[in-house]
Amino acid sequence: MMPDEVKKYWDDSNAESMYDKNLVEIESDAILEHLKESDRVIDIGCGEGESTIKYLKKVKELIALDYSMTRLEKLKDKNDQIITLQMDMRELSFDTIKKKFTKAITQRSLINLNNFDEQKAVIKGIHSILVDDGKYIMLEGFTEGVETINKIRSYFKLQAIEVKWHNLFLNKKELLEHIRPYFRLEYTRDFSLYFFITRVFNAILKSPEIPNWNDPVNNLAKTMEISYKNDFIRGISRLELLVFKKC
Ligand SMILES: C[S@@+](CC[C@H](N)C(=O)[O-])C[C@H]1O[C@@H](n2cnc3c(N)ncnc32)[C@H](O)[C@@H]1O
Repeated sequence: MMPDEVKKYWDDSNAESMYDKNLVEIESDAILEHLKESDRVIDIGCGEGESTIKYLKKVKELIALDYSMTRLEKLKDKNDQIITLQMDMRELSFDTIKKKFTKAITQRSLINLNNFDEQKAVIKGIHSILVDDGKYIMLEGFTEGVETINKIRSYFKLQAIEVKWHNLFLNKKELLEHIRPYFRLEYTRDFSLYFFITRVFNAILKSPEIPNWNDPVNNLAKTMEISYKNDFIRGISRLELLVFKKC
């Protein structure tokens, strides 16, 4: 894919960061558990900031970074006090921003880069802008979860859910090998209960129709995922939350 095409996509004001609003709520609920009142946070690839404005309410200081002015303007419409930084995350380093943070978040933003080399370089940049015991909160897409969901869907004669053209999901095994010298993995969580109910169970139930994002079964799945903090079913999740401590 051409790099400019991805930026063009995000510069289009009709684009949505995430159509599944239940999932946005699940994600922000999971991330908020890892933020403290004393935190100085950078939200990298904040988009229109549906989640960012929740993080802002909890922490001491927050900078919202995105390379798309369209996205940042949408965020400013939600909160005109928020500090924004228009920047390509591939330029991110202590030398470029001269500031350190206690927490850095990427929420489905690293997956917009063109290849693993770019993703690795951004992770290195994030390492350089964190304080010594700082944490990197990564909520990204992983190929392992996509493959598992599609395997189950195929068994039940449902079409595979492809990764969008502008996304490059991470391979978890490869990521963990690369990241070891920079970060220690402290916490993982996936959203398998939600993904199983919405992308498998309800998909079969409503087939051949495709359930609406706010289908009552999907809404119930969200409530279950948030209240139960799912731990009994794992690995059936396109997205995962990994919390790393700088080392
Ligand atoms: C899927 S959206 C996620 C937005 C937000 N984090 C959320 O969870 O709703 C991806 C965002 O990453 C931004 N982005 C993609 N590549 C970027 C880059 N190289 N530098 C900065 N921002 C980037 C896009 O403009 C877009 O706003």
